[in-house]
Amino acid sequence: RWSKFPPVSAEEAKRAAARAAAELVEDGMTVGLGTGSTVAHLLPALAERGLELRCVATSPATERQARELGLPVEPFEQLDRFDIAIDGADQIAPDGWLVKGGGGAHTREKIVAAAADRFVVIADESKLVERLGAPVPLELLAYGLRATLRALGSAQVREGAPPSPDGGVIADYRGPIPDDPAELAARLEADPGGAGHGLFPPALGSEVLI
Ligand code: 5RP
Repeated sequence: RWSKFPPVSAEEAKRAAARAAAELVEDGMTVGLGTGSTVAHLLPALAERGLELRCVATSPATERQARELGLPVEPFEQLDRFDIAIDGADQIAPDGWLVKGGGGAHTREKIVAAAADRFVVIADESKLVERLGAPVPLELLAYGLRATLRALGSAQVREGAPPSPDGGVIADYRGPIPDDPAELAARLEADPGGAGHGLFPPALGSEVLI
């Protein structure tokens, strides 16, 4: 079970986790930059360090903020791995499963995490859960969308969510999550209309900084 932390505001906690993660980055590293309000604290902490880095961003919002801060961002075309990737999470279970994608960037985030030697998750305490629950973010192909939603069952397009930078439709699975989330992950991956889902397995090797 998770033990409880002394009370600090969520923003302070996010900033503290982000600053700790920024300290893990060393000169010359290739860095995958996640997405979200916790990563928004990481970017200035990283920029302040003045290191020589090669960065890839998982979303246009992260790319924009990183560039404004003077962090060099390149497309994910010249690199085939990262020394480190740092990202937030929506839910963190004690066994290392994560739910990500509150910002709709989970497909890119998972590709970047999988390509990283070290994947570090930064979060405030509110993200710790005893058990994963709905919603699980999805990215679906627009082609055949209604058929995909029908086949998935408990899934709905996320109202107001823009398409992903890769043209995917952002949706949420709202059905039950089995005791072993791998069963749901396998079911979601088996659907031909799915481009990605927000269940991140412990095999991604996440280190969690709360
Ligand atoms: C975006 C994500 C985010 O990392 C996740 O939603 C956490 O965001 P925040 O740091 O704002 O709580 O997966 O797709």
